[in-house]
Amino acid sequence: MIEAKGLSRSFGGREVVHDVDFRVGPGEVVGFLGPNGAGKTTTIRMLLGLLRPDRGSADVSRPVGYLPEQFAGYDGMSVRGYLRFMARMKQPPSNEVDAAMARAGVADLARRPLARLSKGQRQRVGLAQALLGSPPAFVLDEPMQGLDPKQVVDARHVVQSLAHEGGAAVLLSTHVLAEAAAICDRVVVIVKGRVVAEERPGDAADLEARFLRLVGQAELA
Ligand SMILES: Nc1ncnc2c1ncn2[C@@H]1O[C@H](COP(=O)(O)OP(=O)(O)OP(=O)(O)O)[C@@H](O)[C@H]1O
Ligand SMILES: [Mg+2]
Repeated sequence: MIEAKGLSRSFGGREVVHDVDFRVGPGEVVGFLGPNGAGKTTTIRMLLGLLRPDRGSADVSRPVGYLPEQFAGYDGMSVRGYLRFMARMKQPPSNEVDAAMARAGVADLARRPLARLSKGQRQRVGLAQALLGSPPAFVLDEPMQGLDPKQVVDARHVVQSLAHEGGAAVLLSTHVLAEAAAICDRVVVIVKGRVVAEERPGDAADLEARFLRLVGQAELA
């Protein structure tokens, strides 16, 4: 379960997240949509306990598999070395490194140094890291960015299976509305720090039309 309860946060006197409420139940994939600067990453960081809210609270099942917007890793390590290291850090330690690599499509990169991976390959290592320990909740900040079309299709299956087969609660932010339409059970739309809609995605064209209307209205307000 992933729940935001009235989360609010200012930076330098400017409120960038205002009273954000939503809930992602077990077995659900919820898309977190909004324009650049809307407050998605800031909300996600509060959900994870990485940033203190000014008001409100978060309730998230632990452990949580987190794919950050900018996945860092440790450049000197190999893919397997890095994932083994991360697996040992989990509470409890995970012995699912090979399974996570296979699921995220990085098994053939196991011995490559992180420093020499392409952007999309790095992103997949980030996804493998989030899968370690089969957590009950996942927060994925733009998980498909940089992936080629084949990898996007594979990653969609992985994300959906986490929820629909594994029973996890999955929150993912994305700018690709076709992505959200394809895999999300629900979408939460945030504009200028406020939730402006929470609904079923519908098809891609319909979602795009509604999204543009919501953003336009909120920007006039
Ligand atoms: N540490 C910080 N200090 C000051 N301002 C910040 C900080 N972090 C975020 N902001 C501001 O908060 C607002 C929301 O940023 P956030 O990163 O949450 O947006 P986002 O919805 O994730 O955008 P994107 O789609 O571009 O990733 C932006 O105006 C940003 O400049
Ligand atoms: Mg962001």
